[in-house]
Amino acid sequence: MEIIIQATPESATSVAARIVARLLREKPNAVLGLATGSTPLLLYRALIDMKLDWRRVTTFNLDEYIGLPQDHPQSYHSFMWENLFRHINIPKENVNIPDGNASDIPGCCAAYEQRIRDAGGIDLQILGIGTDGHIGFNEPTSSLASRTRIKTLTPQTRKDNARFFGSEAEVPGHVITMGIGTIMEARQNLMLAFGNNKARAIAEAVEGPITTINPASILQMHPDAKVCLDAEAAAQL
Ligand code: GLP
Repeated sequence: MEIIIQATPESATSVAARIVARLLREKPNAVLGLATGSTPLLLYRALIDMKLDWRRVTTFNLDEYIGLPQDHPQSYHSFMWENLFRHINIPKENVNIPDGNASDIPGCCAAYEQRIRDAGGIDLQILGIGTDGHIGFNEPTSSLASRTRIKTLTPQTRKDNARFFGSEAEVPGHVITMGIGTIMEARQNLMLAFGNNKARAIAEAVEGPITTINPASILQMHPDAKVCLDAEAAAQL
């Protein structure tokens, strides 16, 4: 694990943006894994400003809520189109996000894994981290070998994400998420975390034992994982 600590979220983001931009310049048909949440917003803004060429890039998002209409403002489809895709020249058919309204969820998860394989695997996966150490929506106790599947959100995550929905009751209880095994197969992982509410999860992930209780800790086993932190998120290291 390479830990990159910068004073502010902005400076940590610019390190991450340079890593993504270098990949897209060196490999115009790169396969990028993308994340949602407030953390990657600055990164997506920086990448838009860099005016990179996305025509041959393929993307796979980590996760999606089950049961929210795709055009619901809090669906991860809406989030990604609003905050990244509509501002760049990526062809719509190159964008992959799990379908939270599929009638056959297990079949949809298996097909998602197959699409990642058919694309040649993920070159670089962007990750945030939950306050409980979750990556994607792989909540604590998720199998470290898990694949794309349905998960039930913990009360903590529903509480954390209630700020986007208005109330905790409106946060869907179930999601589709890439598995930890899926994430570990990405050739590079790039995790971002900002703010003191992430400091404990980061300290456990980076310096604690590898444990399903903090799913991000498995990144200690990844051959090319970088963690970009601001000073607050790094405060307990
Ligand atoms: C969400 C997402 C994760 C994200 C995390 C942190 O629930 N599924 O991919 O990393 O929680 O979100 P934020 O960046 O808003 O703190």
